[in-house]
Amino acid sequence: MSRPATAVIKLSAIKQNYLYAKSLGKPANAIATIKANAYGHGAVEVANELSDVADAFAVACIEEAKELRDAGIQQPILLLEGFFSDDELTYISEYNLWCVVHSQYQIDAIQKATFDKPINVWLKMDSGMHRLGFLPNEYANAWQQLNKMPQVNELAHITHFSSADDLKSPLTAQQSTLFLETIGELPGDVSIANSSAVLTNSMPDRVQWVRPGIMLYGASPIDSNDIAKKLIPAMTFKAKVISQRTIDKDEGVGYNALWKADKTTKIGTVCIGYADGYPRHAGSGTPVFINGQKSQLLGRVSMDMIMVDLSMFEDQDCVGYDVEFWGDNIAVNDIAKCADTIGYTLLCGLSRRVYKQYIK
Ligand SMILES: Cc1ncc(COP(=O)(O)O)c(C=O)c1O
Repeated sequence: MSRPATAVIKLSAIKQNYLYAKSLGKPANAIATIKANAYGHGAVEVANELSDVADAFAVACIEEAKELRDAGIQQPILLLEGFFSDDELTYISEYNLWCVVHSQYQIDAIQKATFDKPINVWLKMDSGMHRLGFLPNEYANAWQQLNKMPQVNELAHITHFSSADDLKSPLTAQQSTLFLETIGELPGDVSIANSSAVLTNSMPDRVQWVRPGIMLYGASPIDSNDIAKKLIPAMTFKAKVISQRTIDKDEGVGYNALWKADKTTKIGTVCIGYADGYPRHAGSGTPVFINGQKSQLLGRVSMDMIMVDLSMFEDQDCVGYDVEFWGDNIAVNDIAKCADTIGYTLLCGLSRRVYKQYIK
């Protein structure tokens, strides 16, 4: 690694957060959601760390599942969107993946398939999110079709909340009631609850599986309540000051000189930019943490660099100082707010050239 743009990933924090999610979701088991390269943290590394505790993993597509199986991960792996083309079905059977079925075309494809081993299906209900799944009035029919098929082994039930991060919204309770009422006496395991729901609701007895994602990485999807405060941030994203200078009053900094000095000011240049995943929309004043002190971004974020305020280090040579963008000292959600986005996009958005350093 030549360029010191680094994401330090504390694996033990992810394990602790997982165990915490599992304890909150109890008596349900917890499916660790590690799609999108474990929200930018490295799917194989995270799965290996959780391999002795995780009940199951969830990913978005077969390539993500294959990467885990190739790395020796034995747990059940749930494909949250099922399959996109029929030829994936052989692999799903061969590698013993759990498959969400959300549409009639998937049922038809399973009907036509021949497998050595029948597959485990999670039938998805659209209980109000209106993204994927059978509507409640279609659900029993979809279930009956799959239940008759020799190609299907276990048949379970799954839905997803639209608004669990909004504690005032009645939708979560409404979706939960509709889902459980529609399932009624149909046999099979049941899964609901993303991180927001795990953090704010106790699970009905009928639920055997929760699906925490973002909370595993130590970021809360809800404005921190006392329960969420126990999460440990797993990623510290940082780089170093590579240059420093003092500029005169009224001088501008960076592209379009968006920030102007109101007095003689010492500034530093840090080797991080939007091509690394630092948000382009973060403006002047966005917090950074430099060598143990709070400071701020100045001016527009460039592709590979940003400028920061070094006023507090007036007489020091700051080249080589560590600059944290989020992690132990700055919550990723706080940076997300400064960039008009959410913590999820920042964690998932680190680019390939950011060096990942794994620590216990
Ligand atoms: C179907 C499904 N379940 C669970 C999750 C995990 O959600 P969160 O990261 O908010 O915990 C996601 C994330 O997008 C999802 O799409």
